[in-house]
Amino acid sequence: MKSSAVSPEVVILEELLAAEPGHVSGTALAKKLGMSRVAVWQYMEKLREQGFTFEAVRARGYRVTSKPAGLNAALIQAYRHGRKDDFTLQLFDEIDSTNDEAARQLAAGREAPFAILARRQTKGRGRFGRVWHSEANGNLYLSFAFRPRLEPARMQMFTLWMGANICELTANFCRTAPGLKWPNDLLFDGRKAGGMLTEARMDADQIRDLVFGLGLNVNSPAGGWPADLADKAVSLAEHTRHPLDLNRFAAALIGRVLTAYDRFVDGSYQKTFADLWNLYDVLRGQPVAVLTGTQRIAGTALGIDDTGSFMIRTDKGRTERFNAGEVTLEKKA
Ligand code: BTN
Repeated sequence: MKSSAVSPEVVILEELLAAEPGHVSGTALAKKLGMSRVAVWQYMEKLREQGFTFEAVRARGYRVTSKPAGLNAALIQAYRHGRKDDFTLQLFDEIDSTNDEAARQLAAGREAPFAILARRQTKGRGRFGRVWHSEANGNLYLSFAFRPRLEPARMQMFTLWMGANICELTANFCRTAPGLKWPNDLLFDGRKAGGMLTEARMDADQIRDLVFGLGLNVNSPAGGWPADLADKAVSLAEHTRHPLDLNRFAAALIGRVLTAYDRFVDGSYQKTFADLWNLYDVLRGQPVAVLTGTQRIAGTALGIDDTGSFMIRTDKGRTERFNAGEVTLEKKA
C-alpha cells in the first residue's frame, strides 16, 4: 500500500500557522492547493469539526483563533517543519495497542515508515507482558513502524539510542530531562515518566519488521493515577508543573525519532551515543540488583558496554554483563 500525500487540511494549517498572527487569503490557500476557494472552505469546515476555530476578515483572509487541546493528527503533521513526506501518521481515538496495530499493518504490507498514535489503549503492553496504563489523559501512546533490514545483533542498541534521543528532546522542549534506566525506562526522581517497547520480526538473518513503541506520560494530572501507580508514575506536566502543548511536543518527538532512526541505520549514531547515554544514565555508580529469570545479582552499576549490555561490578569484584533483565536500584549501605 502506498502512503498518501500530505492532506489539504495539513497544508492549510501549515500556511495559517506560518502566517500567525497574520491572515492568509482564501485565494492564496486555493492557489497553494491548486483547488477552488469553495473546496478550501470545505476543508476548513472539516478542521472546524475537529475543534479548530478560524477568524475570517474581509480583504485579509483567515487566521487560526483556537486549536484543539487534545491530539490532532493534522496539527501534528503541520507542526512537523521539514518533515519527510513519505512518512504517515494515523491517530486512533481508541485501539488495543499501538504496537499491535503497527505490527498488523506491517504484516498487511503497509509501506513504512509510519506511526500509529492513540488517545487511549485498551491493551497497552509493557515489557514482560505488563499492562501499560493507557487512559485518555493527555499522555502519548505512539508506535513507529520500520523495515530496517538490519542484523538482529545490532538491535540491542536500538532502544537505548532511542531513549537517549527522547531524553535530549524532552530536555530541549521542557528544560528538564528524565533519566534513563537501562534498558527502556524514562524516570523523574525514581518515578516512571515513560517506557519503550521495541518488537521485531525476523527473516532468516535480518530484521524485517520493527515496531518501536513509546508510552510517555505528558499531561496526566497529579493524583490521576490508579493506587498501584501513585508512587511509581509521573508525568512531564506533574514534574514541571506546566502542561505541555501535546501536539507540538508530539511533532517534535516524531521528528526526533525519525532522524534518530536514520542515524541508527547508517551507523552514524555511534559517534554520539555513548556521551548521550552517559549524560542521562541514572544507574551508573549506584548499587543495583539485576533480576534475570530466577537469578538476582547485586553490585554496582558500571554503565553499558559497546554492545549495549548492562554491566555491574559484583561485591566479589567480578564484572557481569546482561543483555536482558530487570534492574532495581538498591538502598545505599
Ligand atoms: C515498558 O516500560 O515496559 C514499556 C512500555 C511501552 C508502552 C508503549 S505505549 C505505546 C506502545 N503500545 C503498547 O502496547 N506498548 C507501547
